Amino acid sequence: MVRIAVLASGSGSNAQRLIEHFAQHPVARVVLVGCDQPEAGVLQRAWDLGVPSYLFNGAQLKDGTVQRELQGQHIDLAVLAGFMRLIPASLVKAFPQRIVNIHPALLPKYGGKGMYGHHVHEAVVAAKEKESGITIHYVNERYDEGEHLFQATCPVLPEDTPETLAARIHELEHAHFPVVIEQLVDAFGR
Ligand code: GRF
Repeated sequence: MVRIAVLASGSGSNAQRLIEHFAQHPVARVVLVGCDQPEAGVLQRAWDLGVPSYLFNGAQLKDGTVQRELQGQHIDLAVLAGFMRLIPASLVKAFPQRIVNIHPALLPKYGGKGMYGHHVHEAVVAAKEKESGITIHYVNERYDEGEHLFQATCPVLPEDTPETLAARIHELEHAHFPVVIEQLVDAFGR
């Protein structure tokens, strides 16, 4: 059974979908939710779904504490689902091709430091793009620059606001993220 840790800083709707998906498809299991924000909604979702959560701060992410916790829990794959901090190079090296992120745009456009959540959709709408979408990618030492695993697109309508676009993007995320992670886990050959 592949052991997944989901790292999240916010509401956690993707974390919830991942937990629920692997409860139905036990090729893997979300055994831990890691979070750096004590008030984050993802903690309540983890509690309601019976998944242990692990609260940490930026210093612990940088100083190896989080790495030791993940290794101690025999985590095979770390999945970032709305996690807002840069993953330190030491943690990337400790989990080569075993940390994955989802970004709510078609990278390499609209990515990088500061391009997260609402900021992304505001920029896409302001640029009058005709389409947007999601990118699921391996994590490396730089924001949003790892090798792409998957992309899906959706239209950006003339009447779209950042909110209406965000809702359409979230639907794409919830539909694809669990399936892409399951396909990745299947490829682990375990
Ligand atoms: C998602 O839009 C994801 O693409 C981005 O952060 C958001 C997390 O949303 N990285 P939620 O907390 O999973 O609802």
